[in-house]
Order: sequence, then C-alpha cells, then structure tokens
Amino acid sequence: MTLQANTIPKAILFFILFLLLPLHVPAQSEEKRIEELIGKMTIEEKVGQMTNIAIGMMLYEKGDTIALDQDKLRNVLIKHSVGSLQNVVNHAYTLEQWHTMINSIQKIVMDESRLKIPMLYAIDAVHGANYTIGSTLFPHNLGIAATRNREIARISAEVTAKEVRASGIRYNFSPVLDAGRHPLWPRIAETFGEDIYLVKQMGLSVIEGYEGNNLKDVAHVASCLKHYLGYSYPSSGKDRAPAYIPEIMLREYFLPSFTAAVKAGARTVMINSGEINGEPVHASKYLLTTVLRDELGFNGVVISDWEDVKKLATRHRVAATYKEAVYQSVEAGIDLCIVPMELDFSTFLVELIREKRIPEERINASVRRILKLKFDVGLFDQPYVEIEAAKNFGLPEYKKAALEAARESMTLLKNNNNTLPLAKNKKILVTGPGAGSVTTLHGAWSYTWQGTNANYFAKDLPTIFKAIKSKNKNAVYHQGTDFTGTDLGIAKAAAMAKDADVIVVCLGEDAYAETPGNIEDLRLPEIQQQLVKALSKSNKPIVAVLTQGRTRVIREIEPLLSSIIMAYWPGSEGGNAIADVLFGDFNPSGKLPVTYPRYSGSFSTYDHKYLEEAVEHVDPYSYSFSFNPQYEFGFGLSYTTFSNSDLTFSADTVTRERPITIHVKVKNTGTMSGEETIELYSADLVASITPSLKRLRKFQKTSLEPGESKELVFTITSEDLAFVGKDLKMVTEEGEFDIILGKEKKRIFYKQ
Ligand code: BGC
Repeated sequence: MTLQANTIPKAILFFILFLLLPLHVPAQSEEKRIEELIGKMTIEEKVGQMTNIAIGMMLYEKGDTIALDQDKLRNVLIKHSVGSLQNVVNHAYTLEQWHTMINSIQKIVMDESRLKIPMLYAIDAVHGANYTIGSTLFPHNLGIAATRNREIARISAEVTAKEVRASGIRYNFSPVLDAGRHPLWPRIAETFGEDIYLVKQMGLSVIEGYEGNNLKDVAHVASCLKHYLGYSYPSSGKDRAPAYIPEIMLREYFLPSFTAAVKAGARTVMINSGEINGEPVHASKYLLTTVLRDELGFNGVVISDWEDVKKLATRHRVAATYKEAVYQSVEAGIDLCIVPMELDFSTFLVELIREKRIPEERINASVRRILKLKFDVGLFDQPYVEIEAAKNFGLPEYKKAALEAARESMTLLKNNNNTLPLAKNKKILVTGPGAGSVTTLHGAWSYTWQGTNANYFAKDLPTIFKAIKSKNKNAVYHQGTDFTGTDLGIAKAAAMAKDADVIVVCLGEDAYAETPGNIEDLRLPEIQQQLVKALSKSNKPIVAVLTQGRTRVIREIEPLLSSIIMAYWPGSEGGNAIADVLFGDFNPSGKLPVTYPRYSGSFSTYDHKYLEEAVEHVDPYSYSFSFNPQYEFGFGLSYTTFSNSDLTFSADTVTRERPITIHVKVKNTGTMSGEETIELYSADLVASITPSLKRLRKFQKTSLEPGESKELVFTITSEDLAFVGKDLKMVTEEGEFDIILGKEKKRIFYKQ
C-alpha cells in the first residue's frame, strides 16, 4: 500500500513533519545565508569568489622555510576578494607550515574582508597527501586499479582525505576519472586503467573515501572529478594535445565514469585542458552545460584547469584576446577559474559583467555553487585549521594500509620454472636504475610535482634493494645504469651476476608528471635493455621488477627474463611490498588494468572491435584475426593456482525486468593461500554499432586458503549489456551474447 498525504491522519502527519523539521533547518538557513551574501556582494566580490590563485603568487620558499608576502596577500584576498587558493610553490610543507600558512591567510580574510567569506584552499593530493611532508603515499591509481579491490581504493582515499584535512585543506583535486586508453600518455599512472567499468568502480570507491557522508566531518574532503572530458585520449599520445573523439565514443568509453560519480554526489568537476574535434573543452558550452549540467544533472562547482581559460587565446586560438577567452569559458559553464598567477581574469570578468555581455545572474549561479561548497566543507563553521582534523595525521595504520595497497597491486606477469618466490638464503644481485631509487617507487606528485626530488622523502623509506637486503643478507647491489641513459657500470653488473644465484633487475621509469613525461617511443629505454642483455650472459635466472607509470615495451628482453613483476608506482611501502612478493611473504594477486603492448606501434585496448584484429592475406585472399599484446588486460599470475567450475545461470534470457544470476565456484587448487579476481565479460555477437570483442561487466575478488572453494554470485541486467547507439542513447539490442568467465563461456539472449 502506498501512503498518500490525504490518507494519513492529521496528527501523524504533523508528527512526521515535526520529525523532518530539524533536518531541514540548517540546509534552509545555509541557502538563506548564501542568498543574503549574494545580495550583499559587489560584482568584484562575486568575481573574486570565481577566482583561484596559486600560492606561488604570494609565497616565497627559501630552502625549507616559507614566507608569505603580506602586501601581495592583501592585494589578492582583500583588494581583489579572491576566494580560493591552491598548491605549493615547489615542494611539500610540514604540517606546522601548512597550519601557520592557512591560519594566517584565513585570519586576514576573517579580520579584514568586508563579508568574511572564508578562503577555500585546494591541493592535488592524488595518491596520499603528497604535498605534506611525512604523509603516507599510496600506489598511483593504476596500481590501485590492479588490486581490483574496491575497499583498498576507498581506504587509500580516506587516509588521503584525513591527512589532507589534517593539513588544513578541505578540497582535493582528485580523482582522475579519465580512462587510460592511450599507452603513451604521460598520465596513465593517474588513471584506473583502460576499461571504463573499472574506472567507474574504482572511482566511486575513491570518491566515497574522500567525501564520506558528510563533508563537515573532519575525516573528509571535497573531491574533484577530472579531467572532464576526453583528456586521456590525445591522438599523438602527448599531454594536452588535440583529441579526435566522435561523440559516440566519448559517451561509450569516457563519459560513464563522470556520469556515475555525479550521480554519487561528487562536489566538483575539473575541465580537460585539451581540445576535442577542434573545440577546446573549456569553451564547450555543449559539454560543460548541455551534457554536464542539463543531462547529467551536475549541480556542483565546475573548475577550470591550470591557466586554461587564458590558453583559449594563447594556445588553442579560439579567442583573439584573453578577455574573449574569459567570455567564452564563463559562457560555456566555468564557475571557478584556476587563473593562477595574475588577476586579469577578474578584471576582464568584471568588465564583461559591466558591459552586460555576461548577465549578473549567470555569475550569481557560479557564486552560489562556490559558497555552497564552502558551507559544505564547514568553512563557515570553522574557517581555521580544525584541531580535531589535525589529529588524523601520520597514524600508524596508514602505513599498514599503504603496504596492503602496494602488495595487492603487484602484478606477476611471468614466472618461468617457479623462479619466484625466492629462497631467503640465495645470493642475489640487485641491479638496475630502480633498485636504489625512492623516486621511482613514488612517481608523479610525490612531495614535489614531478616527484624527482628525493630530499623531501622520509629518510628511512626502503628502496627495493634495502627492502630485499632486510630479508636476505646475501643480497648485493650495483646500479649498472640510471634512468637517463648513463652507463654506470653495466659491465661490472654483468661480472657480479656470475657470482649470484639469481638477479633482480629493477627497470622502468623514474618519476614524472604531466607534459614533462611525454615520450617519443614506448620502448623501455635502450640502456636498460642493454643491462638485461649483459646480465643474461651469466645464464642466471633474471627477475625483472618494473616500477613505471605506463607499460614500456619489453618485447626484446622478455625472453631473457624468468620472472616479471609489474609494480606500477607503488608508493611509500612499495619497496617492502616488492620484497614481500619476491620472497613469497605475500602472494601476488594484481591484474593488469591496461593491455600491455608488445610493440610500440600497436595500441589496441582489450575491448577493441573485430576489425582491429582482422588481417588480410594476399595469397590466398582471406582474413585471419590476431591480437597479440605482450600481456592482456586482466592478466596476472599467483603463486597458487585457481579453478572455476560449476558455472550456473538462473535463466538463458535476460529481459528488462528480469536479470540473470550467475553462480561460479572458485577453488584454490594450489598450496599457498591467495586472492583471486573473477572477471565477468560479455560479448555482443551482432549489434547495430560494431560490438567489442568483449567488455568487462563485473568483477569480484576473493581470498582462498589452499583447497578452499567459494561460490561467487554475479547479476547481469539489461543495462549491463547496453551500448551507445547511433542516436547517442544507451540501448540494449535483442539478440545473443556470450558471457565469459575465465575459460568458461555461455551464450545468453536478451529479449525486450
Ligand atoms: C593538472 C591538474 C591539476 C591542476 C592543479 C594541472 O596542471 O592538469 O590535474 O589538478 O594542475 O594543480
């Protein structure tokens, strides 16, 4: 029975209204306060709220000390009423430095500004509170995705949120929800991989960890979905290069993570610095307003990326002047602009409003959203650093969480003759550019933007070699080569290899972030391959550990390697996690979140179309199909073995009203306890838009003791089988689908 208002007795109705009343009071009064503020604000004050300035405009670093320039600060905060600041100048600050800085900025705003609207500080804390010295750093998102463990994603984000808020900051420019579908792109490590379902699932868990249920809670921060939309697919693979993505593809492979995160209530969205099909996204009213606001229903804050409004004139050239660029971006739907180093944005926006080119009501809408965010994160209740929040910094359990995350991210790609795990008494030569480096363990955004300055890392952080040495006193080290191509004694490493039982060679990439990470070639640098070739002359088993932000091509040296561990950029506990896996103190369970290419010119993702595999033969004229990556998406070995069996389906046919339930038994058939991820794929056999070979629809991770088995249950609905049709709407077409679980496959039908 459904209750209608007129069927409820009056007394009960009043009682219900009475119960609801207190819940509504704060929200209503916040709304009222926002409207009152907007009513009192001058145009300059409104524009100030829409302006975000980098702290570098007002802060000086001298060695490890920092000093605010009071005059510049007052010019920005009081004269120009700027409402939000961000970032560091060059490097991370201590907790105390953050507190002093934020409190003194806030004091100026609270004491001297006319309306006392607290300042909102924002930071990029993308794998831990990476701009606070002493914070715990987690694997980058690519590694988090490899864990296939939603809880790890949530916890790592929650720890990040706690340490960010403990630093006095309540707004985090994270997570990246771009699907990492171009292996050259230097920000692949910041993504949750190439599959949009995986990106969506991990992204949702991370947002939950950041935002929790209530942003006033000192354990949480506002998140930022970035970089809306299509940033990760530049045609050249270079950062901030043009992308050409038809809308049908944007909606199929790039939009769903944002749609889901908006639905989950995430507070802010950052815009893609690039351009799609010749239109810079910062000037796209279609993407920013029609799709994001009207279609997805996003009502939070839309923030520009770094200097990207101005770049509409200086780089993209769709605007003749900076002022025109301001007009275009605000018209398109930007609420808050990361200017970040001057105040012309504000001057031009004020002029545009006075000239009535931009209506004041348009500005009010942005200011309303920004003030709401400030209310939501509790700045109007307590603008200064919250004492309770500060207690959440550096707790011992964070280290444990980082270790668990790093361990579960480790992806074992090869293990010939069970070379791994290594016995602890073996004579091990540890070599390669990554073996003695903390920066390659952390990658981008680690105490500095590029992550390459080791001075800001904790002094006791174990490198891979130190972590190995702590478990095996017989380990010896010689670097052999560095990441920049210098031979530091390859010959000596090769000579030392002769005395070793086994060689651990640590290869990959040093840290880099964004555009400085552009590369011309996906191959692992030549000198690292030379090192492996020289070591292989010893005929000793070689174990390669790859710490890298993307999948560097290893085809030529792969046959020389007995075992390969893909470690991504695993963070503070990376060294320990790698050593745990090498010696079998932890059984690896990571699964590749991207396709590992075999050639630097073959970039197909796992969910490619049939035509991408078709090979035409001249003689005889026929087709064959071939997809031959080095390792497939979803691949990852374990020290134990698992089997799937007893696959049962509740029905053969899915309808819109009736999903199918699928049961599968997973068994640990080996001798070591371990974790296994079961991935469920679907393959649409025939569709009006060419179907992918397969698409990931569900995954579950489970841990099993030797001999133990568990039954996992999956549900497939009609939406799970949908794709973006010719009319750009999601559709599930009638017909046959294969459901694929490991080596098992079953045909089902969809009927409307
Ligand atoms: C990056 C963003 C980041 C922003 C603010 C930009 O260069 O593209 O991901 O959030 O800087 O620091």
